[in-house]
Amino acid sequence: MSDLSAPNPVDRALGTVAMRWHGDSLELLDQRLLPVEEVWLPHTRATEVATSIRDMVVRGAPAIGISAAYGVVLAAKRATENGWKQTIEADMQVLAESRPTAINLFWALDRMRVVLATCDTRHQALRRLAEAAIGIHKDDLAANLAMADHALAVMDDRAPFSVLTHCNTGALATGGYGTALGVIRRLHEERMLKRVYADETRPWLQGSRLTAWELARDGIPVTLNADGAAAVILSQGDVKWVVVGADRITANGDVANKIGTYSLAVLARHHNVRFMVVAPASTVDMSLESGQEIPIEQRDGREICEIKGVQIAPDGIDVFNPVFDVTPASLIDAIVTERGVIHDPDITGMRALFSKG
Ligand code: MRU
Repeated sequence: MSDLSAPNPVDRALGTVAMRWHGDSLELLDQRLLPVEEVWLPHTRATEVATSIRDMVVRGAPAIGISAAYGVVLAAKRATENGWKQTIEADMQVLAESRPTAINLFWALDRMRVVLATCDTRHQALRRLAEAAIGIHKDDLAANLAMADHALAVMDDRAPFSVLTHCNTGALATGGYGTALGVIRRLHEERMLKRVYADETRPWLQGSRLTAWELARDGIPVTLNADGAAAVILSQGDVKWVVVGADRITANGDVANKIGTYSLAVLARHHNVRFMVVAPASTVDMSLESGQEIPIEQRDGREICEIKGVQIAPDGIDVFNPVFDVTPASLIDAIVTERGVIHDPDITGMRALFSKG
C-alpha cells in the first residue's frame, strides 16, 4: 500500500500534511489547536471521522472529501460479515451529514459508493475501498500541482508581485500542496512572489491560525491582516491577484467559498485587481445552475461571540454566522482547475470543461 504519511511523496515541498493513513486507522492533525499545538488524533471508526469533520479537526473542501473516503474504509473494516454493505452505507450516511457546503464530501462518498457496488464480499470491499481512498488522496495532490502550472501561465507577470488570499487553502486543506496556496507556493518557487497578504478570516481564523502558520513555516513571505484591511491593501497597487479556493462551483461559474470571499471580489473589481479561484474538478457541481442553490452552512453563534472561551459579545445577542458566501461568476476573472482555466466564467466556459453530471 502506498505510504501517504510520508511528508514528501514527490520531489517538491508539499507543506504540512493534514492526514496520515495507516491502513487500519486515520490520523488527523487537530487544526483547532494550531498554531500553538500540533496534536494528531487517531480515528478507527467512520463515525469518529464524521465528528472530526463536523467539529473542524479537519477542514477545507478537498481534505474533508479525502478524510471521508478514508472513513468509508474504516467502516468496511469494522463491518461484520452479516449485513456488511448496509453497515458501510449507514456510516456513509453519517459522514454525509457532517458538513453541507463543500461538494467534495459528497463527490468522494459517491466515488466510494460506486466502488462498493462492484464488491461481492467484505474482503473485496476492504481492498477496493482502500485503493479508491488512496486514489482520491493522490489524485487531489496531483490536481493541485497541475493547477499551479495552469495558474502561473495565466498570471504571466515578469516582475515579482504580491497576492492576497482568504481562509486556508494549503496542504492542511487538501491532499497536500494546496489549491490557491499551491499557486502561491509555486509563485514563490519561481521567484515571482513578492509577498502574500493573508486575511485573518473571521470568525474561525483559518487565515491567521493556519495560512500564516503554513506560509511562515515554509519560509514564504507573509503579512497577516484583519479582513477589514483588505480594501486598503488592494488600493495600494502592490497586489496583482486575489487568489482563493472554493467549496462548490456551480454550472454558471458562481463560487461558494469562506465567508468574506464575496466582499473581497467586490473590492478587487473596484481596485482593478484580478480575482482567481483555484479548485479541483471535485469541487464543481454541474447539477446546480447557480450559486443561489448552494446550501450554506450556518454555524454556532459562539464562533463570533467567543474567542477561546472568552466572551467578546453581550449575553443573548442575535448572531448571523453563515460560514460561506457565494461570489457571482461576473466578479471572477479566472477559475483554475486541473482540467484547465476558465476565463470570465459562465455556463459556456464551464460546460466546455465539465459536461453535465
Ligand atoms: O470552513 P472551512 O475551513 O472548511 O472552509 C474552507 C474554505 O472555505 C476553503 O477556502 C475551501 O474549502 C477551499 S480549501 C482548498
